Amino acid sequence: HRMPRVTVTRRLSFNAAHRLHNPTWSDDENQQLFGPCNNPNWHGHNYRLDVSVAGDVEARTGYVMDLKRLRDLVEQHVVDKIDHRNLNIDVDFMQGINPTAENIVIACWRVLAPALRPAELTRLRLWETDNNYVEYEGR
Ligand code: NI
Repeated sequence: HRMPRVTVTRRLSFNAAHRLHNPTWSDDENQQLFGPCNNPNWHGHNYRLDVSVAGDVEARTGYVMDLKRLRDLVEQHVVDKIDHRNLNIDVDFMQGINPTAENIVIACWRVLAPALRPAELTRLRLWETDNNYVEYEGR
């Protein structure tokens, strides 16, 4: 018979600076579309990243995955590289990417999906503010 499949989620936080800017547009167009996020001298957000993995509940532990292990892996592969950094400049896996929340969450997925294996990453939710979040499920 099939094992019950459960999703477990760990939240991590990081602070980072960015600037949204499309260099092929005029300054006015950039300002109109991106508003304060186009500020030439950067600004920061207090991001939260909810990392979800799904799988069978292991009989021995009662866990899908030890959440401390999940935390350690996400810290090692993502948070340690982006916390207190400038997303436009400092982060190897964000090079050449306009750091909207959408593009950040996709970049994080590309790093985390292989790093978490054999655990199955099923969803990332990235909060840029208390009111705005984006979700990505790898599709
Ligand atoms: Ni912003």
